[in-house]
Amino acid sequence: MSLPNLAPIPELYVSHESALKLKAEAGNLVSWDLTPRQVCDLELLMNGGFFPLKGFLNEADYNGVVSEMRLADGTLWPMPITLDVNEAFAEKIEAGQDIALRDAEGVILAILSVTDKWEPNKALEAEKVFGADDVAHPAVNYLHNQAGKIYLGGPITGIQQPVHYDFKARRDTPNELRAYFRKLGWRRIVAFQTRNPLHRAHQELTFRAAKEAQANLLIHPVVGMTKPGDIDHFTRVRCYEAVLDQYPASTTTMSLLNLAMRMAGPREAVWHGIIRRNHGCTHMIVGRDHAGPGKNSAGQDFYGPYDAQELFAKYQSEIGVEMVDFKQMVYIQERAQYEPRDEVEEGVTILDISGTELRRRLAEGLEIPEWFSFPQVVKELRRNRPARANQGFTVFFTGLSGSGKSTIANALMVKLMEMGGRPVTLLDGDVVRKHLSSELGFSKEHRDINIKRIGYVASEITKNGGIAICAPIAPYTATRRAVREMIESYGAFVEVHVATTLEECERRDRKGLYALAREGKIKEFTGISDPYEAPTKAELVVETENVDVDNCAHQVILKLEQMGLIGA
Ligand code: PPS
Repeated sequence: MSLPNLAPIPELYVSHESALKLKAEAGNLVSWDLTPRQVCDLELLMNGGFFPLKGFLNEADYNGVVSEMRLADGTLWPMPITLDVNEAFAEKIEAGQDIALRDAEGVILAILSVTDKWEPNKALEAEKVFGADDVAHPAVNYLHNQAGKIYLGGPITGIQQPVHYDFKARRDTPNELRAYFRKLGWRRIVAFQTRNPLHRAHQELTFRAAKEAQANLLIHPVVGMTKPGDIDHFTRVRCYEAVLDQYPASTTTMSLLNLAMRMAGPREAVWHGIIRRNHGCTHMIVGRDHAGPGKNSAGQDFYGPYDAQELFAKYQSEIGVEMVDFKQMVYIQERAQYEPRDEVEEGVTILDISGTELRRRLAEGLEIPEWFSFPQVVKELRRNRPARANQGFTVFFTGLSGSGKSTIANALMVKLMEMGGRPVTLLDGDVVRKHLSSELGFSKEHRDINIKRIGYVASEITKNGGIAICAPIAPYTATRRAVREMIESYGAFVEVHVATTLEECERRDRKGLYALAREGKIKEFTGISDPYEAPTKAELVVETENVDVDNCAHQVILKLEQMGLIGA
């Protein structure tokens, strides 16, 4: 009997011999170094995870996907899978040309035969695909502040899979999973998509979903890219492995999916469904606020809690996967068990710990009860996120030249060194420009490179448990945000706006630079002939007029104490 969900799915790879030949020839092609997100997309294009796509979207398909979730031939496809490049690279490329796509180490993974090159309307893409042109949405932020200006589209010839050195045995292509299900005789398979550690409520929910669908269970966590600030996938996979012991091996399996999520809520749910169908699943669990991106800049949710379920239900037959909708599971103290919230009668005691509360308890080293999670999971989470007072962190001063950043940063460094406990590194604007960025000027592009270098070093320091104090001007909001995202996966990021006014900085003019800038002898001078975008959400704003340096540094210390980063 031929079973559509288990029959092999087309891949974009050529044979081993052809791959060797192509690889040798591709050495002469113009090549593009893929970004981490593009590597994830390419892997799923090549292995059939994004079937029926045959490459990065061309312009007609892109327009259809953006405006009505359909490729030009009418096939349902909700997410633009595009190859964004910068203008300088795009200028070298013409339709009809082949380009080699390389990973971060320079390995050629595929050839793209370019058919289309165009400048997308990003604001429209944001509105249509993500529901709002608001950079509070991580994918909209990516679109405007990280993605290149030009898209290239065309079919892909797959040469080799991206190499993974971690959890190799847990990664499966769609065809590997289909073969596994065939071998075990599994016919109905319900997928559980997740980007978070599994706790007892999730386990109960997945048990019930499998029972309801009379299906086997595939725990299918995303390990590619998730929401900035999420727990890293290494920790999560160790947590999943611990929980897997709690499931009957004959009915449940786990596989890792190298997907780059967009957090696009409803559209993302439909996309996840298609991806699961391609991996041989027949059912998928869709929860409340599936792939939700959090709050918009007005503090409201981007999508309604059940928008994803509604859109999925609408397209269910085209997706080819049946939805098992999420029952929110709550713990009933009297009965010591989890039950669906909508089935619980009045008068019983419901216990719950929200995501925010869990993070607080982890940050403060407080108890996490057994009814909530498994001891092995809690142990892994604590290993990953020790109490805040034992983690590394970054204090990032930003402000105009001469605002007092360096002076306060120096005072803060001395105070922290006096306290001891963690190594402290000061990455002062001038010092960085001398040692790390001596070749850079003050154009927007160069300033961004400079700040990202500082961010990278600070993130490494934070990861290794140290304190990084940065004191550049860092005039651009989007770049500060990129640095925040880099650091927050490892520890706290404390942005301190040294809010000395331009008039005061100019009056002080400690280095005589403002006078030169006014005379036009220094070009692109921040505040005079170049912009400074003041932070709106800094953890702390320090005024320096009529306040001495010692007191300014002390305000930062109090903030760090309040955030639990240093012992009271
Ligand atoms: S940036 O924008 O964050 O990359 O700037 P940063 O690395 O902090 O460099 C700041 C110091 O360089 C001096 N300087 C200038 N600042 C701003 N604009 C222009 N065009 C410029 N040219 C030189 C200035 O002394 C800054 O030092 P601080 O410590 O901020 O006063």
